[in-house]
Amino acid sequence: VSRHYSSIASKRQEAYEGGGEVKRKAQHDKGKLTARERLDLLLDTGSFREYDAFVEHECTDFGMDSKKIAGDGIVTGHGTIHGRRVFVYSQDFTVFGGSLSRTNANKILKVMDQAMLVGAPIIGLQDSGGARIQEGVNSLAGYADIFQKNVLASGVVPQLSLIMGPCAGGAVYSPALTDFVFMVKDTSHMFVTGPDVVKAVTNEKVTQEVLGGAKTHTVKSGVAQHAFANDMEALQRVRDLMDYLPLSNREQPPKRPYEDPIDRQDEALDAIVPSNSSMAYDMREVIQRVVDRHSFYEIGPEFAPNILVGFSRLAGETVGIVANQPLTSSGALDMDASVKAARFIRFCDAFNIPLVSFVDVPGFLPGTAQEHGGIIRHGAKLLYAYCEATVPKLTVITRKAYGGAYIVMSSKHLRGDYNVAWPTAEIAVMGASGAVEIIFRNKPGKDALEAEYKEKFTTPLAAARQGYLDDIIEPRTTRARLIEQLDLLKTKSMQNPWKKHGTGPL
Ligand code: COA
Repeated sequence: VSRHYSSIASKRQEAYEGGGEVKRKAQHDKGKLTARERLDLLLDTGSFREYDAFVEHECTDFGMDSKKIAGDGIVTGHGTIHGRRVFVYSQDFTVFGGSLSRTNANKILKVMDQAMLVGAPIIGLQDSGGARIQEGVNSLAGYADIFQKNVLASGVVPQLSLIMGPCAGGAVYSPALTDFVFMVKDTSHMFVTGPDVVKAVTNEKVTQEVLGGAKTHTVKSGVAQHAFANDMEALQRVRDLMDYLPLSNREQPPKRPYEDPIDRQDEALDAIVPSNSSMAYDMREVIQRVVDRHSFYEIGPEFAPNILVGFSRLAGETVGIVANQPLTSSGALDMDASVKAARFIRFCDAFNIPLVSFVDVPGFLPGTAQEHGGIIRHGAKLLYAYCEATVPKLTVITRKAYGGAYIVMSSKHLRGDYNVAWPTAEIAVMGASGAVEIIFRNKPGKDALEAEYKEKFTTPLAAARQGYLDDIIEPRTTRARLIEQLDLLKTKSMQNPWKKHGTGPL
């Protein structure tokens, strides 16, 4: 028996060692932590329970039968974050470059299955050279099974991908199917085809960083939502994020203690909207002054900054915030903003997170670039997402709510539960000068007509008179009003008509 014990212990030690000291040092020299060090930081101390540490690959080609390392390049299992269960996998670049073998994929699939079974999020730490080249199609089959599982898990449990090294070729599509993709600056890259292939096919010379570095994906492509300075910061911020989310779609989000008084009135809000309606102000400040102090966790701040989305808390309860940002493009909706917000809204709706929208939108961004790029179908995604959502929907119009964008931005007409405006709100088909230009094209006395239009529509009264607003509130009372309504809406129960799934614009 003791002989067995020692061989089991030495196999376990082999799994701990991974690719060995030299490879671990190489990993550290690149500024990266190892797969196990990362899990230690991600999970509560001592909470990690590993599965499949003894699994080895079954490839016999290209001399692989003599190269086997227990664990086979991936560490999987479960643990807790702030005491709540999560399932994890962490690719070990020190073993065969973290490449994905058939057995390595099976390890991932096992934890995904368990996560769905018990209702707990899945967090994947990606650091891999891609498909295990020696295994050929077996490795591709492993990816395919993971993609399929990602889709089945979508909307059932939160899925999060942290890119902490290379992630190339087909490998990118697992993170792409998950709810959040975070990257680490300088050390992580994502691309479907690398710089060499790009050069061979298109003759374009491009570096890995420009093609698929953290900045590229968080600013330009929108593939990833955050770029963190290093592994430690990235793992800490994932821990922070998990604290806002329910463990599955069967749960409500966690409630956290709060010190910020429910009825705190913030007088600065009364003066935050400039009297000149073409002047900008920072909607982020509005959000921060309304929600529980320091609770706004923004998602994708660098991509489409004309819309702000993120999680926050009101009286300790998680809410999803969507807000136009007048500081960029006057807060106009464009293709990227529409898609960014639509995806966020769908996540919140899938996971029982109420939506709070702050509206100051002059319309959709005009121009051929937007029209030819398909702003109609991209804008429709945002409209679709708001219409489809059955979670509590609360909306505060701070200033402009013009035209189609007024409707889209969680208006009363889209089954809004609580729609209010500040006295500074302007709800109209368009701005006064544009409106007068069209309806009184060649008439004299435009200034007087413009003043008349302003008088009628650059106020929330016309909408309130029709019941399209539930109330006009003093800005300083926004926090208290929202909290009161969120409490009221706790018992909201609404279902869409039965269908296999909608056929909305993708
Ligand atoms: N399959 C099998 N082994 C792989 C691998 C893969 N896809 N990717 C990397 N490895 C192995 C390397 O052979 C090397 O093994 P060794 O230490 O025994 O020599 C080890 O992982 C480290 O790789 P290395 O190339 O030395 O690391 P690097 O940091 O210089 O480069 C990559 C990293 C990812 C850029 C490079 O390994 C690469 O281009 N890999 C192939 C990517 C790819 O085309 N994958 C298939 C398509 S999905």
